[in-house]
Amino acid sequence: MYIPIILGTAREGRFSEKVANLAMEIAKESGIDSEMVDIRDYRLAATDNIGNIPQAKKWAEKVNKADALVMVAPEYNHGYSGELKMFLDMLYEEYFGKPVGLCGVSMGPWGGTRGIQALKLTCLALGMHPILQAVYVPNIRDAFDEKTFGKQAKGMLEGLVKLKVAIK
Ligand SMILES: Cc1cc2nc3c(=O)[nH]c(=O)nc-3n(C[C@H](O)[C@H](O)[C@H](O)COP(=O)(O)O)c2cc1C
Repeated sequence: MYIPIILGTAREGRFSEKVANLAMEIAKESGIDSEMVDIRDYRLAATDNIGNIPQAKKWAEKVNKADALVMVAPEYNHGYSGELKMFLDMLYEEYFGKPVGLCGVSMGPWGGTRGIQALKLTCLALGMHPILQAVYVPNIRDAFDEKTFGKQAKGMLEGLVKLKVAIK
């Protein structure tokens, strides 16, 4: 089972990087082949959905191989990051039928729930299957509860594997 983890912000000083790294460790411990997809490595000046640019080709290769996807998305003004939207918009057909696990991150107490609701709609528009077991990480800057995160992340990964098997 190959499940890449998208780090959904390019912001300098991003706290979501810690969350994405931990999610990857947990995936590997669970026997899942995983890697970090850092959207900093796919910088775009404008929306491009033609699929010919090197960034799109590189991302398409990974999505085609992926059994499922995980997205770690910090909440920015009750949405998700603009660069994550541009990153996702590079492709379309490649996403069809992929189970996706969403992980919200916020400085505030709600764990990025509003950003995740918005991201869920985008995932549906792209033909993906967002699973019920989302992960919400509140208070990331001063009270990251790694134990709770670990439990939720394991539940999400199990949900992704289950759905992938069911789809097969
Ligand atoms: C442009 C911007 C908007 C933000 N809006 C929210 C918000 O709506 N709700 C919230 O809880 N935190 C908000 N934050 C704080 C982030 O949750 C915070 O930066 C946190 O560390 C997670 O994001 P990071 O990975 O960029 O660090 C915002 C941060 C930025 C940069």
